[in-house]
Amino acid sequence: MKKTLFVSLLLATAIWASEGKDIFNKICYVCHGDHAQKSSLGVSKVIAGWKAEKIVEKLKAYKSGKLNQYGFGNMMRNRATKLTDEEMEAVAKYIESLGKPKK
Ligand code: HEC
Repeated sequence: MKKTLFVSLLLATAIWASEGKDIFNKICYVCHGDHAQKSSLGVSKVIAGWKAEKIVEKLKAYKSGKLNQYGFGNMMRNRATKLTDEEMEAVAKYIESLGKPKK
């Protein structure tokens, strides 16, 4: 019983991790770079290696239409509204896992 639980937890984590990567490679890479290493449109910060909580916080704020830091909030709002809370978590974890880009 315990073993089954453990294995399914492992599996769930693995699926979650690959989901985050999928979302990133489908939606986010276009503007933020394939390893999140670019400043989007030359205005946003480089988000690679950011703490997942911070990314989720920003995504939720964009989704609600409250965040517009450099005049492109709507661009992020369009993307964020397509994501559920779980998907935000997953993609944020993936971005965190990329680590800070090497200069
Ligand atoms: C069409 C281009 C585009 C796409 C696609 C896009 N972004 Fe963005 N992103 C931007 C721009 C432009 C900003 C700055 C918005 C503003 O004015 O606040 C930004 C800002 C952000 C920020 C905050 C950065 C900061 O400087 O505070 C995060 C986090 C972020 N994006 C994550 C994502 C994630 C995750 C995805 C995929 C689900 C994504 N973005 C997809 C263009 C994009």
